[in-house]
Amino acid sequence: MSIDNIAFADLYRQQWALNGRTEKAPEHWDRRAEKLAQGCDHPDNAYLRQLLAKIDLQGAATLLDMGCGPGSVCLPLADKLTHVYGVDYSQGMLQAARKRAQQAGVDNLRLIRRAWEENWDDLPVCDIAVASRSTLVADLAQALAKLNQKARLRVYTTHLVRPYFISPLIQRLLGREVTAYPTYIYAVNLLYQMGIYAHVDFIRDPRLPPDPEDFERFAESVSWSGGTLSCEDRQRLYELWQQQRRQGTLSTLIPPRDWALVWWDSSSTAGV
Ligand SMILES: C[S@@+](CC[C@H](N)C(=O)[O-])C[C@H]1O[C@@H](n2cnc3c(N)ncnc32)[C@H](O)[C@@H]1O
Repeated sequence: MSIDNIAFADLYRQQWALNGRTEKAPEHWDRRAEKLAQGCDHPDNAYLRQLLAKIDLQGAATLLDMGCGPGSVCLPLADKLTHVYGVDYSQGMLQAARKRAQQAGVDNLRLIRRAWEENWDDLPVCDIAVASRSTLVADLAQALAKLNQKARLRVYTTHLVRPYFISPLIQRLLGREVTAYPTYIYAVNLLYQMGIYAHVDFIRDPRLPPDPEDFERFAESVSWSGGTLSCEDRQRLYELWQQQRRQGTLSTLIPPRDWALVWWDSSSTAGV
């Protein structure tokens, strides 16, 4: 069997369908905008530090940041470019990006409200296109192709390395259906089938083992991805926390949030 006969786009959609109930509406992100903006402003944001260092701006004057959130990528790079474009379907995220741009005195950012799934004909073609942590969409093949069409030089996308934000043990404990998200492996294979031979690099989560005294932070990280916790949820989580604490295995409760940077040179893609 040839690898070209494996329908990765269908496999992705099947895996996504298993997660159907977790597809997020813009309002989900509106509620997270402020917190994400705070995280972006934090000088110790290891994810952004590593990602920004890996984006090559040589020969570039413009950048399109798809799923830009509070301007995570387009804002810190704005002073190195002529124009940057932040695109997102969440009004709350765009507002947060606008506020951060004003605070930073950035005047070459244009924000556009748009979803991955909508028509992109009027979006500008830029030298660099980026999609950072925003590629969990129902049709990844279509999203990657759309992004590629908007880039003259290079495309940078980041994807999950592991299929979970919350460990399956905790998902089961909270009575949630265990959701396994598609990882970067799909992106690499989909691109391959589009004639794009992408590079893969990793952005490591330098997270230290959890502080045994800080249950609140742990509960907050579970609810960021797993939704609101009821009193019973919190109690169950607390008992698990105490048990793992006694056993010295607290770190197993929080899977490291590593990201795969999948990037390619758009000018050298054949047949796309
Ligand atoms: C985890 S945040 C990442 C934000 C930013 N790129 C970063 O790395 O900090 C995901 C972003 O993707 C956006 N997003 C998710 N699904 C989207 C869709 N279907 N169309 C447009 N934006 C989407 C969300 O609104 C959110 O701003």
